Amino acid sequence: MVKIAVFASGNGSNFEAIVEKKQRYEVSVLICDQKNAFVLYRAKRFLIPSYVIERTAYRSIVEYEEAILKILKIYQVDWIALAGYMRIVGSILLNAFPQRILNIHPSLLPLYPGKDAIGQAIANNAKTTGVTIHYIDSGIDTGKIIAQAEVNIEPGMDEEAVRAVIQKCEHILYPQVITKLIEEENNEKGTN
Ligand code: GAR
Repeated sequence: MVKIAVFASGNGSNFEAIVEKKQRYEVSVLICDQKNAFVLYRAKRFLIPSYVIERTAYRSIVEYEEAILKILKIYQVDWIALAGYMRIVGSILLNAFPQRILNIHPSLLPLYPGKDAIGQAIANNAKTTGVTIHYIDSGIDTGKIIAQAEVNIEPGMDEEAVRAVIQKCEHILYPQVITKLIEEENNEKGTN
């Protein structure tokens, strides 16, 4: 079974969707950089091991990511799925998981990268926005795009309303894309 590590910093609704809709993979471990994040309660409920690794406990991003990498090796993780992980991924993890770190972002990249993508779309009076799943590279939301889904912003929708529609879409798309990537890899290897 393919083993996924989910990285999250906050609420964790995508973590939960990835766990609940798992097909061809299992979520082996949660890595969280915030000790009070709600996602930790979700992990407990699903009996998934979780580790709080705070950036401030380490002198450098290299040491921080080496601590994470140690855990990923223990769980023999194959893929990393960032799900509301609000940090830039550095070279230690990028080199250890080349083209195997996924991210979900609440806009149609390259539009509205970085923080507050939904707020940016609303401030721009956008009629549509959406969801992007992409590989992580060393830039901010610049990695190769794997899948996108468009969401309409109807007149009168506030940020909360747009977020609700976007998240509904995320919870369907992210598990689907992870499963599809694994199936494609299995087909290539002939190990279906
Ligand atoms: C998600 O909407 C995700 O797209 C976004 O954070 C939210 C996390 O929600 N990610 C980013 O903005 C990354 N730049 P969740 O904690 O409920 O899964």
